[in-house]
Amino acid sequence: MLLAATSRPAGGVSLVGAGPGDPDLLTLRALRRLASADVVLYDRLVSAEVLALANPAAEFVYAGKGPGQQEPVQAEIFRLLLEFAQAGKHVVRLKSGDPLVFGRGAEEAEFLLAHGIPCEIVPGISSAIAVPGHAGIPVTYRHLASSFTVVTGHARKEGRIRWAHHVHSDTLVILMGVETRAAIATELIAAGRNPHQPVAFIENGCTSREHVIETTLAEVAAGLVEVTAPAIFIAGEVVRLRHKEVASHVAASA
Ligand SMILES: C[S@@+](CC[C@H](N)C(=O)[O-])C[C@H]1O[C@@H](n2cnc3c(N)ncnc32)[C@H](O)[C@@H]1O
Repeated sequence: MLLAATSRPAGGVSLVGAGPGDPDLLTLRALRRLASADVVLYDRLVSAEVLALANPAAEFVYAGKGPGQQEPVQAEIFRLLLEFAQAGKHVVRLKSGDPLVFGRGAEEAEFLLAHGIPCEIVPGISSAIAVPGHAGIPVTYRHLASSFTVVTGHARKEGRIRWAHHVHSDTLVILMGVETRAAIATELIAAGRNPHQPVAFIENGCTSREHVIETTLAEVAAGLVEVTAPAIFIAGEVVRLRHKEVASHVAASA
């Protein structure tokens, strides 16, 4: 299905992961694609610092989606990708984290390939792992957490998330779960997860605005925890291991 290209497709599209925010966490390939792009079509969570590394002569097109805008904006993104690529431009389709993790990157690649447009995937560092790690929380730990599950908290009507399926995963990493946090925590407790289990929300991870809130599943379920998006919601015993000195050392040396 997907074309695994290793060189820049001429008159094509590179679906590039921008990583979790800090430009130091871009891959070298992402940097090279940005430097030679004719057009950069970027999402809401892509940081200004990452955009500043792109070819200054490129055309920059914002393609962020607000609430209720998912489908109309996605249709416009498909249209723009096709138009620019058919005009012979090299388009960098820049998405936060990894383009294939809750980023609709695979749908865009399928669409482009169906229209005969060369397309490559440039993987990025996903916030699902990088944001907890940067904040000093390991997603696995010997004898304590041998599995982790990454789940979206943003359930579309036709695909409701079955939290009971995920209840036995040692560490749960929930993306897009800020708005629905109380309902998620309530369902997890109802499905058998320990209400006293530690939880962290990491807001704006891997940026200078990173902020960590430590709490429990029961407090989240009770609606007692204020959180601002974007944030990673992580539930598991590993939260107790948070190495605060790791996080502060990294912040100080950045
Ligand atoms: C549409 S998903 C995209 C995920 C992305 N493709 C990835 O691999 O990281 C957006 C969600 O990712 C999480 N996220 C992305 N970047 C983040 C950051 N720097 N700090 C905290 N959460 C982040 C948030 O939960 C946000 O709602």
